Amino acid sequence: MSSRQTVLILDFGSQYTQLIARRIREQSVYSEIHPYNIGMERIREIAPDAIVLSGGPASCNDVDSPTISKELYELGVPVLGICYGAQLTAKLLGGVVKTSDKHEYGRAKLVPLAGSELFHGFTAGEAINVWMSHGDRVEALPTDFVLVAESENSPAASFACAKRRIYCVQFHPEVVHSPRGAEILGNFLFRICKLEKSWSMASFVDEAVAKVRAQVGDTGRIICGLSGGVDSSVVAALLHKAIGNRLTCIFVDNGLLRAGERDNVEKVFRDHFHVDLHVIDARDRFLDKLAGQTDPETKRKIIGVEFIRVFEEESNKIENAKWLAQGTLYPDVIESVSFKGPSAVIKSHHNVGGLPDDMDLELVEPLRELFKDEVRELGRELGVPENMVNRQPFPGPGLAVRCLGDLTRQRLDTLRAADKILGDEIVAAGLYDSIWQSFGVLLPVKTVGVMGDQRTYAEVFAIRAVHSVDGMTADWVHLPYELLAKVSTRVINEVRGINRVVYDVTSKPPGTIEWE
Ligand code: XMP
Repeated sequence: MSSRQTVLILDFGSQYTQLIARRIREQSVYSEIHPYNIGMERIREIAPDAIVLSGGPASCNDVDSPTISKELYELGVPVLGICYGAQLTAKLLGGVVKTSDKHEYGRAKLVPLAGSELFHGFTAGEAINVWMSHGDRVEALPTDFVLVAESENSPAASFACAKRRIYCVQFHPEVVHSPRGAEILGNFLFRICKLEKSWSMASFVDEAVAKVRAQVGDTGRIICGLSGGVDSSVVAALLHKAIGNRLTCIFVDNGLLRAGERDNVEKVFRDHFHVDLHVIDARDRFLDKLAGQTDPETKRKIIGVEFIRVFEEESNKIENAKWLAQGTLYPDVIESVSFKGPSAVIKSHHNVGGLPDDMDLELVEPLRELFKDEVRELGRELGVPENMVNRQPFPGPGLAVRCLGDLTRQRLDTLRAADKILGDEIVAAGLYDSIWQSFGVLLPVKTVGVMGDQRTYAEVFAIRAVHSVDGMTADWVHLPYELLAKVSTRVINEVRGINRVVYDVTSKPPGTIEWE
């Protein structure tokens, strides 16, 4: 465990738990999430400088509701209980929590009272907006606790025992609907816990470099599958800084890449970073296997399997390779408490990280502690060009899931050309960075058109652009009509094989972001 200060967040299953971690990290303090039941021994091992108890869907009056040992409050470590975490704290320390039939959900007015460090900088008696989402309420405070803020529906909206540095809030300071939530969290971190701003990307780089060097020793060689996406690019840049030419990157050109992709990766990693980059031209191999396959799941499976084969073959050629780098991010490793149950498989995802366990290589995962926006910040710190750091996500199976129907070389070229026009116009309109994903889809549908007095009979190009936070849900973007008009005219005039352009106005759900 490193010497940096750590806030431990115990997760009771709230949908906002990850947000708590992010809000704390945004204030330059490192935080990590663990399930509420990790046990006191593990908590002592982590040796946190502060503990936050998250919200959760349960009622602490239920039998078998999630709970913690009272010893946690005896560690001398400051505690902040949020929502369920506040109710549980009240109950465990001798207060009374009532289960009410009325659920308080949504915006509420919170009135801080005078004298608490948690509300330093706030005017006592002056209401602020906060976000509430709870059924239970605290009716009697534990001994030694005092009320520090109240609201109409939950008189014990915030209560504390300053002597023991235990603070509780019934509302959610971590959500944007609590506009001054960051200040409240800041007061807890800096005024109450006296933490320092010790989490920065510059210090992370030093730590991560040292960690990788210690992990792989003086002679180990690491292989890194490069996709051109943000995560694998940042991993490669970081590893290159750590072990220089003992890093070999493998980039597989599967014939399903966007226009200019391969050149761009070569330019950045070979010319700029001087990485040992192996570009494998596997276009024929993939496209021959995919010929005639039109079922989305079959396509995905073929690509996943083929990718593993190519990657294994190439890595076997590299001597002394003992390590495999993966761009695993923090959201993938958090063992959150899931009250939702397993979700149905909608699409079988393939990505560079989806390599089999039986590859005889040990894993290096230097981004395991980071959220996506932190990965971008790290990339900037490492000098990865802005256009790479800010890239929109691109699916592992590439254009295969955007070229509906048969994946002939010609249709893929058509899609690539039209997609490039769309991409260029979105960049030119200054919209690229504000959109989660924007891309084109080629439909296997022919329609009749007329150009220069001639009848045409060609395929349809669909424009897709969505706003999203995590790819799980998405809204279609209201792209300006002028932009749509320009893309439509250019695509039809410049790309053979397309004579009609449509705009996809489906959100997710019910649609998915990709068409296949
Ligand atoms: P869907 O289409 O399921 O996509 O709404 C959600 C997000 O995931 C991306 N996506 C993939 N990413 N391998 C990946 O690495 C895949 O197989 C894959 N399929 C979809 C998609 O682009 C969107 O960002």
